[in-house]
Amino acid sequence: MAAARGGFSSRLGFILAAAGSAVGLGNIWGFPTQTASNGGAAFVLVYLVLAFCLAYPAFMAELMIGRYGQANAVTSLQKMSRQAWQKKFAFMVGFGGIICATLILSFYGIIAGWMMSYAVEPFAKMIGMPPVAEWVITQGITRNVLFTALFMFLTVFIIRRGVEDGIEKWSKRLMPMLIALLVLLIIYVMTLDGASDGLDAYLNPDLSKVFEPDLLVSALGQAFFSLSLGTSVMVIYGSYISKKENLVTLGAQVTLIDVSIAFLAGLLIIPSMYVAQAQGVAIFAADGSLISGPSMVFSVLPTLFEGMGAIGLFVGFAFFILMSIAALTSSISMLEGPVSYAVERHDIERTKATTGIGFIIFLMSTLIVLNLDFMLDFVATLATEYGQPIIAMLCCIFVGWIWQRSEILAEIKQGNEQVESSLFWKIWPWYTKFVCPVAIAMVFIHSL
Ligand code: PFF
Repeated sequence: MAAARGGFSSRLGFILAAAGSAVGLGNIWGFPTQTASNGGAAFVLVYLVLAFCLAYPAFMAELMIGRYGQANAVTSLQKMSRQAWQKKFAFMVGFGGIICATLILSFYGIIAGWMMSYAVEPFAKMIGMPPVAEWVITQGITRNVLFTALFMFLTVFIIRRGVEDGIEKWSKRLMPMLIALLVLLIIYVMTLDGASDGLDAYLNPDLSKVFEPDLLVSALGQAFFSLSLGTSVMVIYGSYISKKENLVTLGAQVTLIDVSIAFLAGLLIIPSMYVAQAQGVAIFAADGSLISGPSMVFSVLPTLFEGMGAIGLFVGFAFFILMSIAALTSSISMLEGPVSYAVERHDIERTKATTGIGFIIFLMSTLIVLNLDFMLDFVATLATEYGQPIIAMLCCIFVGWIWQRSEILAEIKQGNEQVESSLFWKIWPWYTKFVCPVAIAMVFIHSL
């Protein structure tokens, strides 16, 4: 571990930090929503297959690039390049990922701000301040800017402290809280009327939908977003892992945690919707589909919490704190991408780089807030539907076609001497060279 640039102090530190990046609003909101609108368990099945067969190998490519380069995304990719054009290409891919992370953070921060404002609402009611409670859940520019600023402040606060004292320490604090809250909420919701109907809807697959192209596209997009691919984030996290660690296993563990938490979130959200229905709340849209998107999180669920009386205040508070924590462990990883670049390539002090970049991203968020209807969707689509798959595909191409094979194999072997007898060793280099880029390209083209 390069002491000068910092690194994770332990295996658990890396696992929780990378899982923290992976587990975010995408898992707790995106995954259940997509499941609801794509045929329930059919989507879950396809998602599991794609997460392990396509997203995991691409995820390993990004971790491997970073661990090999021991530097930010651009420098790491350039270390793998030998010719001048390859170095330019490395710059494009690495910097493209950093831009992508920046764009994602600029809209993610706004949504995370809403989660925090909805957590303040039950709290304000508890302490007898109904006007505040009302204000924090009413759409408005001031509210949006204020809560985005608060969320960005927390993100900057953690990243200024660096890898071990910032990312690792806070991931170790927040991730166990997140899991505990999630499990407690599931247990509670399962005791309520209507939950079993929700379970049925979640776990009974409509198999006729499994091969629908739209479902495949949504599931792959969800898997890539969830593993934070194509954003330089996993490259930089990979660069903070010691050469003594077994990367293949670590990557698989993080993928497993990510997928499991998405699955658990489905166990919370979908049954909650049916509990709301049992209490008389409308949960189906006019076309017969389960309500998803913002109205699910900001209307149906809060109505459900309200109907629970006093305990609903605590449940609502816990739910939105859960969302906020999930968002925070992801946002810190997004900020680390550009910060590590500024620190390592332009010799800017970490604290200054973090504050400066955090502020620029906050200004971008403000611009989005001022043009919410048009820009939120636009930036989200640009970064997640175009940016992420393209950059992730280019990373696979880099590993498969530009990196020397002997060096790839040497990197896989670091911290994992017995790997030569494993399936990963036999399949992964070839798979990343041919299957991943083609499959990603096919899905991407279809989505257009
Ligand atoms: N993986 C995060 C989620 O599921 O919410 C989102 C994310 C984090 C995307 C970090 C991109 C990124 F660089």
